Amino acid sequence: MSAPQQATPPAQSVSPAAQFDQPTQCRRYEGRVAIVTGAAQGLGRVIARRLAEEGAAGLVLVDIQSERVVDTAAQLESQTGRPMLGIGGDLSQPGVAEQVVAQTLTRFGRIDTLVNNAAALIRLRLVDFTEALMQQAVQGNVWTTLRCCKAVLPTMLAQRYGRIVNIGGEAWRNGAPFHTLLAGVGKGSMVGLTVTLAGETVRDGITVNCVSPGAIDTSLDGGAPSNWQRDPAWTGPGVMDELGRLAGPRSNFISRPAHPSEVAGAVAYFGSPEASYVTGQHIGVSGGMAMI
Ligand SMILES: NC(=O)c1ccc[n+]([C@@H]2O[C@H](COP(=O)([O-])OP(=O)(O)OC[C@H]3O[C@@H](n4cnc5c(N)ncnc54)[C@H](O)[C@@H]3O)[C@@H](O)[C@H]2O)c1
Repeated sequence: MSAPQQATPPAQSVSPAAQFDQPTQCRRYEGRVAIVTGAAQGLGRVIARRLAEEGAAGLVLVDIQSERVVDTAAQLESQTGRPMLGIGGDLSQPGVAEQVVAQTLTRFGRIDTLVNNAAALIRLRLVDFTEALMQQAVQGNVWTTLRCCKAVLPTMLAQRYGRIVNIGGEAWRNGAPFHTLLAGVGKGSMVGLTVTLAGETVRDGITVNCVSPGAIDTSLDGGAPSNWQRDPAWTGPGVMDELGRLAGPRSNFISRPAHPSEVAGAVAYFGSPEASYVTGQHIGVSGGMAMI
């Protein structure tokens, strides 16, 4: 009788980005307080961790996923030893950003850095949007950033110090399909806001800059997987395959997704005191997906 066949275990798929985790020795955030929006998961979570690793005196994580953001804040506080405050709320709605600012000032007494990372990742061809989804996309990708900027400004102006970092995305400038609302309108307006607000605050000790990722493998962030905000209705069928197919023929960019810490490193620079002479700028952390 022949021995029973051993089933071959499926090959483990290891993300090509996994080996590019960027730990830091910098301590640029000592004494500084930062707010990171959309920080319950994904890139926002990694940005919050990075600022904490750089010694932040206080970090405020805000997210529409109220329970999850409180859990994430507790986890990061125990991992990094830095004080965290998790606040649940829909930042696209009037008054919520002001409440976040008030709670931040009560707990930590100042606001040095705002990272506008929250976004509603709704990716469909324009022709396929319903009116309701179109409104939701504008609400989540335009109003959120605008309201957060406006809410922190009185504190930053009074301090005569502030750093605002907006998270954009290369789809804004490389014409990726499915991105008219998320990138064309959302990130496009964010880039415009970066420049005009930088101009408005240039004499006030405040800088405003924008970091655009390409593709990020956010599954490498160590957080629990979640599909909560990535509602299947927000990404049309075949969207990710089509985007991958379009990127395939390009040979002159680093054709792997970013580790989220590679993006967080650029955000940490713009958000720190070190970036004192850089404002109104945009940088692509996208492996050369778009150049200059
Ligand atoms: N993942 C990528 O490949 C990629 C590529 C380019 C740009 N980006 C940008 O990076 C940022 C983070 O992306 P991600 O992949 O981590 O996304 P994500 O969906 O995992 O995280 C976004 C977070 O924002 C929160 N959020 C959404 N709307 C909110 C609101 N109104 N109020 C409060 N919180 C809200 C969500 O709950 C979620 O936790 C986004 O701005 C995104 O556009 C991501």
